[in-house]
Amino acid sequence: MRILITGTAGFVGFHLASRLLADGHVVVGFDAMTPYYDVKLKSARHAILARHPNFQGLTARLEDMDALRHAADLADPEMIVHLAAQAGVRYSIEHPQTYADSNLLGSFNVLELARGLKIRHLMLASTSSAYGANTAMPFRESDKADHPLTFYAATKKAMEAMSHAYAHLFSIPTTCFRFFTVYGPWGRPDMALFRFVEAIEAGRPIDVYGEGRMQRDFTYIDDLVEAVVRLAARAPVMGRPVSGEGFTDTLSPVAPWRLVNIAGGEPVELVRFIDTIERCLGKPAVRRMLPMQPGDARATFADHRLLEALTGYVPHTAVEEGVEAFVRWYREQWPAAVPASDPAPVPVPA
Ligand SMILES: NC(=O)c1ccc[n+]([C@@H]2O[C@H](COP(=O)([O-])OP(=O)(O)OC[C@H]3O[C@@H](n4cnc5c(N)ncnc54)[C@H](O)[C@@H]3O)[C@@H](O)[C@H]2O)c1
Repeated sequence: MRILITGTAGFVGFHLASRLLADGHVVVGFDAMTPYYDVKLKSARHAILARHPNFQGLTARLEDMDALRHAADLADPEMIVHLAAQAGVRYSIEHPQTYADSNLLGSFNVLELARGLKIRHLMLASTSSAYGANTAMPFRESDKADHPLTFYAATKKAMEAMSHAYAHLFSIPTTCFRFFTVYGPWGRPDMALFRFVEAIEAGRPIDVYGEGRMQRDFTYIDDLVEAVVRLAARAPVMGRPVSGEGFTDTLSPVAPWRLVNIAGGEPVELVRFIDTIERCLGKPAVRRMLPMQPGDARATFADHRLLEALTGYVPHTAVEEGVEAFVRWYREQWPAAVPASDPAPVPVPA
């Protein structure tokens, strides 16, 4: 299949593109190399993808509609996977504009692009943060989620809603997935695992928010990619919901549109996550216990029954195994795998 993926220099996009290329697909990747975190890590990921003859990478911003159209001309895509975004919950408190640019205008442009193409499936990355202030666990896709705690979450909820309208008006088969704290090799330096390993290796203390009592439904990257690949083959068809015990399909009654959690439904307390990191590193952490930060959810816990019904698959890698894989990558390949010079990120179009 010919696939256009946005965000291929990012953590998830890199892994998904690698897997799809290995499966024999042709991929055009689109990424602006934004400087939210170390651009060298992004260019190293793209450099690895570029070794594959079926990969072509473009460096441009989602806000640049001409660049997106050029990518679509090159790819002639049968499927689009939209992963590029300004990610990060806490950063959105001080930098909301970049979320409006990338996640609102950027996602709108991807929808406009899809509108003009005949694609089999549009897949969009949303987040567990969309559950916001919900306290009923596990989080079900069919639960109302009307109280986002951060602007990041609000932009992702907006993207879900915008894509529903486009799916309805222009019959674009669309799946929105909600990811839950994805981690693994080549992961994001702004996320807890990377930050903790970096600090412990350097002998620096780590900041443990929520006194370590927060829980996250950590999802190992290979499991997430497996779920996305399986969902790719399950483009929503109006009037054909899946059914099963204890869950409601989110298939829209008026559009080929569905919302799916991707996670294993095994929340882990932060303190246990840190214990695991210490064991894998063979070094103790100096823990600075701090209160919850604004915008943080106390817990995330996915109901995975819809995912299982659609794909026959549930993420299952234990954090012990996943953290070990990350530590191995960190010690053996990072930062040796990364080129010395920073490629320039693409400026936001005026
Ligand atoms: N990693 C997680 O735990 C997690 C959890 C929930 C949701 N998500 C979502 O999954 C997707 C992928 O996340 P990730 O962890 O790979 O993040 P990432 O930051 O590693 O990747 C995102 C990529 O998008 C690119 N990008 C950002 N703004 C852009 C723009 N305006 N134009 C073009 N490219 C732009 C960045 O350069 C980056 O390479 C995102 O949509 C994110 O919101 C991730």
